[in-house]
Amino acid sequence: MTVETESNSINVAIFSTAEEASREVARRIAGAVNRRPDGVLGLATGGTPVKAYQALIGMYRDGKVDFSKIRTFNLDEYIGLPADHPQSFRHFMDQQLFQSINVDPERTFVPDGLASDVAQACSQYEAMIRDAGGIDLQLLGIGHNGHIAFNEPGSAADSRTRQVALTDETIENNARFFESIDQVPRHAITMGIGTILEAREIVLLALGEGKAEAVKKMVHGPITEQHPASLLRRHRNVTAVLDAAAARRLA
Ligand code: F6R
Repeated sequence: MTVETESNSINVAIFSTAEEASREVARRIAGAVNRRPDGVLGLATGGTPVKAYQALIGMYRDGKVDFSKIRTFNLDEYIGLPADHPQSFRHFMDQQLFQSINVDPERTFVPDGLASDVAQACSQYEAMIRDAGGIDLQLLGIGHNGHIAFNEPGSAADSRTRQVALTDETIENNARFFESIDQVPRHAITMGIGTILEAREIVLLALGEGKAEAVKKMVHGPITEQHPASLLRRHRNVTAVLDAAAARRLA
């Protein structure tokens, strides 16, 4: 289904290297925190944000940003993995960012992959984001198939936090983090596209040539639920921060 929209542009910032693009993302996140020290960040996992988180840790150590009052909500979590599982997104966030900055662990939220009532946990997550005043800056990566968070192609533009089945492609891509593909969970909890589009600012980071086609479709392709990232063009304040390799196919 193709979604018609009036505003259909996305800001694009291109840097020659992944390091520079990552530093730019860190600067934007730190800027949001400095503008609103008790604000709300939406965070992502995966290979893409690792360097940005390292840059952010560097800024924190240099005294350029204070996370003590900030609240964070992560995009997604595998169903079935406990928080301390090495491949859980909670564990990733603790390792890659939270334990190296002064965020209050009680103010960091990741969907609960072990919730006994998943539907209730999802609506609770939405309520917590609302009660926190909404997300000031949401960081995103992009999947090869255009997914954002675990909103795979076909996800509704107004979808909310919910349980989803991962596509075979996503399972294969994520198998690199597990000992074998059989260990990759088949389901996840993800913020919905509607949830993401409510963030006041969205920064999507894409690195490497492997993302070039997905980036091109996001920026120039039809706005369609078949390429979820293209739906970001319905938002007023989205910036795609790219390295040169990911920007290669942009005209
Ligand atoms: C991560 C997430 C995913 C990733 C995407 C890209 O929280 O929701 O959408 O952003 O799969 O993954 P990487 O960065 O590993 O290429």
